[in-house]
Amino acid sequence: MAKVMIMQHPLIQHKIGIIRRQETGSKDFRQMISEIAMLMCYEATRDLRLVDVEIETPICRTTAKELEGKKLAVVPILRAGLGMVDGMLTMIPAAKVGHIGLYRNEETLEPVEYYCKLPKDCAERDVFVVDPMLATGGSASAAITMLKAKGVKHIRLMCIIAAPEGVERMKKDHPDVNLYIGAMDERLNERGYIVPGLGDAGDRIFGTK
Ligand code: PRP
Ligand code: URA
Repeated sequence: MAKVMIMQHPLIQHKIGIIRRQETGSKDFRQMISEIAMLMCYEATRDLRLVDVEIETPICRTTAKELEGKKLAVVPILRAGLGMVDGMLTMIPAAKVGHIGLYRNEETLEPVEYYCKLPKDCAERDVFVVDPMLATGGSASAAITMLKAKGVKHIRLMCIIAAPEGVERMKKDHPDVNLYIGAMDERLNERGYIVPGLGDAGDRIFGTK
């Protein structure tokens, strides 16, 4: 069964407060999204495995810890997921990056696929799918179905703001995928927007409205 982890860290909560505000402009919005992604990455990588390595400090030999070396990948859902990539790579710089392009049809709210480019060896990698918004869950669910079709077995989903509807959809469609959520909101409105949410994440990152 999927684990759902809701971030409690005060820095994450403070920065989410800033991106919710309608007066926050694109420059600060982008900066906050990136910083939140970095902090969430720290939380979502707590279970990465370590191995012991023998090293020498300037003083003596000792046993230190090192990441086991499991290959990682970050896969943003375009467009808004792009805003989270830099923050993720600050924490896990050796990760490869794939891209999945999906947009929601505004009438049906169903995701429409327009792009998919993944690392060649993605099936061997632990993949972090990133998208600031989990609304109906249609886009995240479709992206994860695409990854599974390419043979990816270990997937985590990171969203900054989620609606209960999206979380339920993910649990039903992909019970093997753990969810890392910055804030759990109340509901979706009649147009499929998260309430209270932050509006359209892609438009706010790229200044397209
Ligand atoms: C937004 C958001 C998610 C999706 C969430 O993207 O970034 O990908 O909606 O909604 P859902 O859970 O109901 O599928 P959008 O379709 O607006 O595309 P954009 O990022 O290109 O603006
Ligand atoms: N996509 C967004 O960008 N915002 C929402 O509230 C819902 C979907």
